[in-house]
Amino acid sequence: MKRELVIVIDFGGQYNQLVARRVRECNVYCEIYSYKTDIEKIKEMNPKGIILTGGPNSCYEADSPTYTKDLFELGIPVLGLCYGAQLMQHVLGGKVEKADAREYGKTEVIVDKQSSKIFEGVSPKTICWMSHFDYISQIAPGFEITSHTDNCPCASAENEEKKLYAIQFHPEVLHTQEGTKMLYNFVRGVCECSGDWRMDSFVEESIKAIREKVGDGKVLCALSGGVDSSVAAVMLSKAIGKQLTCVFVDHGLLRKNEGDEVEAVFGPEGPYDLNFIRVNAQERYYSKLAGVEDPETKRKIIGEEFIRVFEEEAKKIGAVDFLVQGTIYPDVVESGLGGESAVIKSHHNVGGLPDYVDFKEIIEPLRDLFKDEVRKAGLEMGIPEYLVFRQPFPGPGLGIRIIGEVTAEKVRMVQDADAIYREEIANVGLDKTIGQYFAALTNMRSVGVMGDERTYDYAIALRAVNTIDFMTAEAADIPFEVLQKVMSRIINEVRGVNRVMYDLTSKPPGTIEFE
Ligand code: XMP
Repeated sequence: MKRELVIVIDFGGQYNQLVARRVRECNVYCEIYSYKTDIEKIKEMNPKGIILTGGPNSCYEADSPTYTKDLFELGIPVLGLCYGAQLMQHVLGGKVEKADAREYGKTEVIVDKQSSKIFEGVSPKTICWMSHFDYISQIAPGFEITSHTDNCPCASAENEEKKLYAIQFHPEVLHTQEGTKMLYNFVRGVCECSGDWRMDSFVEESIKAIREKVGDGKVLCALSGGVDSSVAAVMLSKAIGKQLTCVFVDHGLLRKNEGDEVEAVFGPEGPYDLNFIRVNAQERYYSKLAGVEDPETKRKIIGEEFIRVFEEEAKKIGAVDFLVQGTIYPDVVESGLGGESAVIKSHHNVGGLPDYVDFKEIIEPLRDLFKDEVRKAGLEMGIPEYLVFRQPFPGPGLGIRIIGEVTAEKVRMVQDADAIYREEIANVGLDKTIGQYFAALTNMRSVGVMGDERTYDYAIALRAVNTIDFMTAEAADIPFEVLQKVMSRIINEVRGVNRVMYDLTSKPPGTIEFE
């Protein structure tokens, strides 16, 4: 089925994916393309609307990203945001200049044209998120100013007849209190999209398309138990049942009971119709990791061992027609602005396609989806919530949450401590709000007393971060009583641990993982 499409043209703004996600929240399908995308290609895609993102440059400088005037002459509505707004004005004959002071942060915007389609239902004074050095000092011919701020004479402008809209602030950012309404007004109002992007129909269409593509072929899927591979596996199983074989490698570096949980859902006792192979490779991994302390070497060993194990299983299965990959839309975008280049993400980040598996073609059923959409698709198909809302968990697993050498004993400590931590966080309802949280085992041992006895045991580090994109993060503000309770339970219940610390480090300079 042909869906309505809005495209986001990316000028290097940090919010490019956010814009596309917000548009999709309006039930309109949206894809991101580089500003280098040819006008002919854009015409071919026949979008209902075009959104130009922000970006770090000044549009009046010679080598800044730009687009030719014909983009605004296609008869397709265009919305420029921040840099995109300035570029639109600049290209169409307005003037953009450096401002005396940067306008940054939450700012009151005063709407001058209440009848503007963009501001339908928006308050006359509304808080918006500003972040710019340059400003539009003169609007292009045919435009009128539709809002301003104390510092900025043109916070937005439009040429209603040509359906061209320039907004200096960032409606995609949640700090812009009525931003979602403005984007909705653009895509559903100005562009007249009907809102045909819905997860229920996406799931239904995908299942049908997979069935047609696979025919009576055989499909192999590496199941990690994470959200993406789980949702992909269920979709495949609904489409083709037992023609699908899922291989789940338990590398002994999973969270407590995770291997059994995955088996309970996907194994023979679970609700899905598929072939499930669980490989218990714990001992193999532990022996490969014995004596290894360097984090990069650990990652490499874990990745390579995964290939070996998967290869052995694949050989037993023999040639297959398709291999499933859990690639999602951000992987596609991050692989090089826009959806042109197909980058294959291995579930265990081993980097590259498993060429040892005899297969003809890759299937990527989640390639068009953002993470929140993958989750919605999962719920739509009846996958249990605890699986769908699982936190991100790295491919190398606890191998990168244990500083220094990995041993079965250390894995037990970190698993037990982590299970307690997660339980207590969930007990106070913080599991829905904290971005990612886990326990790690430091390699530090120190003296303590337990009862009358001197101990010389390990320290557990508790990590919890809030993050939007996992590129930057801040330590979460967990109530002290909660931390105290977690500490006391870990000390009492986890043998070998006598100290608990809370990691306050943000990213940068830290990373989210603790390795
Ligand atoms: P860092 O530690 O780099 O993590 O700040 C950012 C996010 O990426 C996850 N992460 C990984 N995910 N394989 C994965 O699938 C990996 O090797 C890996 N390393 C880090 C991490 O959990 C966080 O969400």
